[in-house]
Amino acid sequence: MKPKILIIGGTSGIGLALAKAHEQQDWQVSVVGSSSYKINVLRPLFPNWQIIQCDVCDSIQLNDLLEKLSENAPYQRIIYAAGWYLNERRFDLNAADSLKMLAVNLQAFQTCFAWAARHVQAACGYTATLVCLSSVAGLVDYPYTSVYAQCKRAMWHTAAAYRSALLPNKINVLCVASGYVDTETLRQINGGNAQHKPFLISETRAVNEILAALNSGRDTAIFPKRMKYFIQIVNLLPKPYLNWLMKKNDKESR
Ligand SMILES: NC(=O)c1ccc[n+]([C@@H]2O[C@H](COP(=O)([O-])OP(=O)(O)OC[C@H]3O[C@@H](n4cnc5c(N)ncnc54)[C@H](OP(=O)(O)O)[C@@H]3O)[C@@H](O)[C@H]2O)c1
Repeated sequence: MKPKILIIGGTSGIGLALAKAHEQQDWQVSVVGSSSYKINVLRPLFPNWQIIQCDVCDSIQLNDLLEKLSENAPYQRIIYAAGWYLNERRFDLNAADSLKMLAVNLQAFQTCFAWAARHVQAACGYTATLVCLSSVAGLVDYPYTSVYAQCKRAMWHTAAAYRSALLPNKINVLCVASGYVDTETLRQINGGNAQHKPFLISETRAVNEILAALNSGRDTAIFPKRMKYFIQIVNLLPKPYLNWLMKKNDKESR
């Protein structure tokens, strides 16, 4: 019997790269995404995968998805990699974008993690593990960061709550906070090239960091190191200065 992994948000970017890495290690892979275009491209390439279309922002679709996935449970690893982000400036998200950002990055994550906690189980020599993809943006200790950063901060703390709660059940919870990863989506929202992003890393590097954290049973993975140290320094700045700096950056990016 093969170990089973479910990746919600596994049809592109980091989620897809993680799915491919697990297939190479002989896992049985299930992935979820909302775009039929991406799914139609993936199906012939990965005929052994279970690939399910679902918009996790739609509560009816999400309920149906979780019911369907329950039939295939338990999984040994469940990863919430679904995420939606823009080249966001703090004050110019419209109402619809803000709601979508909350729906994918926070509300659906909460629903999926609650379900995942009940459908993950150790087997085939693998510990039961839940994983979520937060971001270093969520580690900045400042109350007026972007909606995206606040969602990722909530994810970081939610993962910590699940980690404590699931300890007696021997379920690990890994929360990943990465800096910029050179995915197709990041390139798209930056006009086709994300090379100007500070401390940018490749998808392969991100996957290797996450796999290393999984293999060593770590609770958190913050990378790359230079970005981690940068955030630590930002968090040491006096709050009024940080406030001034954030406002200045915001004005300049308009
Ligand atoms: N790339 C970075 O620099 C970076 C840095 C830090 C953290 N992260 C986080 O890492 C995760 C992956 O990012 P990425 O760059 O790899 O992005 P990506 O390629 O756009 O991947 C996002 C995944 O989420 C799925 N998804 C988005 N909205 C969905 C919805 N409504 N319903 C179902 N699935 C949905 C996408 O599939 P569909 O498009 O088919 O819906 C896709 O599979 C995100 O959570 C992101 O916040 C990324």
